[in-house]
Amino acid sequence: MALENGTADSKELEELETLEELDPSEELSYSTEDSPLEENENDAPEHSSIDLFENSIFPVLRINRDFRIRYANPGSQKLFSMVQQLRRKNFLQTFGQFFDREDIRNIQDTVSGRKPGYFWKGEAQIKNREVITVQAKVYLFPADLTAREPAEFIVMFDDVTAENRELLLSVFSSLLKASKLKDNDTGLHATRVNIYSRALAETLYRRPGYEQVDADFVEDIGLLASMHDVGKIGTPDDILNKQGPLLDWEWQVMKEHTKNGAFIMATYPNPMANEIVLSHHEKWNGAGYPFQLEGDMIPLSARIVAIADVYDALRMKRGYKAPIDHQKTTQTIKDGRGVHFDPDLLDVFTAMSDRFNEIFEKNKD
Ligand SMILES: [Fe+2]
Ligand SMILES: [Fe+2]
Repeated sequence: MALENGTADSKELEELETLEELDPSEELSYSTEDSPLEENENDAPEHSSIDLFENSIFPVLRINRDFRIRYANPGSQKLFSMVQQLRRKNFLQTFGQFFDREDIRNIQDTVSGRKPGYFWKGEAQIKNREVITVQAKVYLFPADLTAREPAEFIVMFDDVTAENRELLLSVFSSLLKASKLKDNDTGLHATRVNIYSRALAETLYRRPGYEQVDADFVEDIGLLASMHDVGKIGTPDDILNKQGPLLDWEWQVMKEHTKNGAFIMATYPNPMANEIVLSHHEKWNGAGYPFQLEGDMIPLSARIVAIADVYDALRMKRGYKAPIDHQKTTQTIKDGRGVHFDPDLLDVFTAMSDRFNEIFEKNKD
């Protein structure tokens, strides 16, 4: 570092002195109440030569025992781009929402020294409507590892969102392959249902009245819609592949694929997976299955996938039916307004139905 090898210029020294002078005056108090933080001209400089973490690949914050953020490296400012200026903000006020209560207590106890060791490790879910939730491992430790009573702490975030997502994708792709071995919905049907569903959700995101549609919703439905028929893994082959109409009892067995899907997806933490596999055959008028849910009792994700699934099923060629063109398919779906499909969603679909055609044409089998 500049100081140690004797090359520090006077400006750096000045900055360092300012910082050191400040530390004792920042008397240790553990309060975290919502008091507005006063601006202090003599506060820690944004870039301090004593900071090892400026170029760290990890987002890093340095906080004092008052939880005031003294330094935020460029990585952390990028990760928390929804917060205008991290430095000088109160860590708990700004980030408390991303931790659960137990974690907050542990962080407070660690920083105050009530818990021995001054080290804490946990997880944060960084949520924001505009961007997908970031899952991060969080490490908190003293800025000066030699200090008996550390005045400042480093908080380091390790973004594991991409790793988690890749793991999920590989599990889902195995499940899809397994279900495709049995199902007659071959080729790119599942992929296209993902793309239509995502496109619909993106439109809803910009539409008033759809506050539940955030960046996570759009991302998740674009991944989970393809799983709608995963429960068909449990449907006997002779029913699944039967040519000609199903007998009544066979139809009852066929309908079970919704509940089987929910059984398969039960351990997946995002409820959307369950909603889609269980409710994609429910109808707006309550005449669907398995539970004859009606109107907005049917989860929004499942109402979206219902439109995407039916559109694609009509367009594609199946063993028992010829493909239907875009015009006729759109008309058939429109006829289901308020009967099979959510009328408001149907209007959104109608306004963007050309996009559905494009998606089908671009991703043909
Ligand atoms: Fe289905
Ligand atoms: Fe399907």
